[in-house]
Amino acid sequence: MIAALSELAAEVQRKRTVASVLETAGRGVLRLGMRLYAFQVSGEDLVLHSLATARSRLIAIEGHIGRPLRGLRAPISSLPLASEVVRARRIIHRDDLDLFHSFMREATNFDPASLDASPETAGINNGVLAPIFVRDEPWGLLGVVSPTLTGNDADAVSLFATHVGSALEVAESIETLEKTNRELSTCYAELARAQAELIERERLGALGELAAVVAHEMRDPLCVLFNSIGGLRDFVSSGAPPEKLADATAFAAMADEEAARLNQIVSDLLGFAHPHPPALRVGSLLPVLEAVASATAPDGRVRIEIDGELPPVELDALFLQQALLNLVLNGLQAIAKDGTVTVRASTTTVGSDTFVCVDVSDDGPGIPADVRASIFEPFFTTKPSGTGLGLAVVKRVVDAHGGRLAVESGKRGTRFGVMLPAVGK
Ligand SMILES: Nc1ncnc2c1ncn2[C@@H]1O[C@H](COP(=O)(O)OP(=O)(O)OP(=O)(O)O)[C@@H](O)[C@H]1O
Ligand SMILES: [Mg+2]
Repeated sequence: MIAALSELAAEVQRKRTVASVLETAGRGVLRLGMRLYAFQVSGEDLVLHSLATARSRLIAIEGHIGRPLRGLRAPISSLPLASEVVRARRIIHRDDLDLFHSFMREATNFDPASLDASPETAGINNGVLAPIFVRDEPWGLLGVVSPTLTGNDADAVSLFATHVGSALEVAESIETLEKTNRELSTCYAELARAQAELIERERLGALGELAAVVAHEMRDPLCVLFNSIGGLRDFVSSGAPPEKLADATAFAAMADEEAARLNQIVSDLLGFAHPHPPALRVGSLLPVLEAVASATAPDGRVRIEIDGELPPVELDALFLQQALLNLVLNGLQAIAKDGTVTVRASTTTVGSDTFVCVDVSDDGPGIPADVRASIFEPFFTTKPSGTGLGLAVVKRVVDAHGGRLAVESGKRGTRFGVMLPAVGK
C-alpha cells in the first residue's frame, strides 16, 4: 500500500497543472482498487474538486443532480468531519465515513446513498481523510475510500496527501507564472500597438510640419515669380517700346532665379525624404576637405587645418562633403563679418580605436541653451529663411558612416566634432 501510493505520488508530482495533479491522483487510486475525492477550501465553503469513483456511479449522480459534480460547494461549518480534518489538521480513519454523502445533501439535497445498493459502491464508508497543505496553508482535504483500508494505512494516505499538496504547490506556481506570461504577452502586444500608433501620429505630425515648411519656403519665390510674369505680360500686352527691353530682361532673370530657388528647395526636401544609401569606400578624407575648401574659398573667412597624416576611413565623399559644408555654412551664418570658421582634421584614439576627427568651429555667439536640444531635429530652424534640414542631414550622414557627432557651444562660439572610424589601424 505504501509503496503503491508513493509510486503514484511520484507520477502526480510530474504534473504541471492543478487539474492534472488531481486527475492523476484519482486515476491512480482507482487503479489501486480504491476511490478518491478531493475538496478545496474556498472562504467558508468546501468545494468538490474531483471525485474518482466508478464511472457508472459518477454518471448516475450527475444525472440526478443535472450538473457536473466538480465545483459543487457547501458551507464547511455544516460538515463537522471536514472541519476537523482541515481546521484541526487531523488524519481520520473511519469505517462509517459519511463526508461525501453529507456534502452532497448540503450542496444539492440529493443523497447518493440511494445509489449505494450497486456492488461497485459497496464499502464506500470505510476510508481515510487527510488534510492537504499548500505553502503550509490548508488547501483542502483528500479522502481515500476502500473496504480494505485500516487505521494502519492512515499514515500512507496522509503522506500521499502531503505529496499531492507539494505537487499542487508547484502546479499553482506554474499556472501563476503562465498567467503572468500571458498577461505580459498581452502587455507587449498592447505596447507594440501603442508604439505603432505613436509612430504613425509622429509621422503625420512630421508631414504636417513638412507641409508648413514647404508652404512657407515656397511662398516668397512664388510671389516674385508671379510679379515677374505679371511684369512680362504687361510688357508684351502694352507693346512697350524697345528701350524697356532691359526691364523685361530683369523680370525674366528674376523669374529664372526664383524658379531655380524653388527647384533647389524641392530637391533638398526630396533628398531628405528619400535619401540614397551612402556608397562607402575606403579612402582619404583629403579630397573631401579640399572640395570644402574650394567651395568656401570665395568667402575668405574659412580656414582649413590638417594635423599630420590622416589614416584612411570608409566614406562616401559626396555625402561627407555635403555634411561638412552644412556645418561650415552654419558657422558662416553665425559669425560676424570679421569672424572665422575653422575646419581642423586630426587623428585621435579612444581606447584601442582610432578615429579621424573633423572639427568645425566658429567664433560666433554660440547656440542658445534653450534650442540646443532641438538643433538636430528635421525642420528645426531659428533662421528666417532656413529649412532646418542642415544638421539633420549631418547627423544622418555621420550615422551612416558609423561615426560620432558631438557639439560644444558656449559664449565663445560653437564646435561640431565629426569622428569617423579609421580603417586598418
Ligand atoms: N554654428 C552655429 N552657431 C549657432 N547656432 C547654430 C549653429 N549651427 C546650427 N545652429 C542652430 O541650429 C539650427 C539648426 O541648424 P540647421 O543647419 O539644421 O538648420 P538651418 O541652418 O536653420 O537651416 P538649413 O541648414 O536647412 O538652411 C539653426 O537654425 C541654428 O539655430
Ligand atoms: Mg544650416
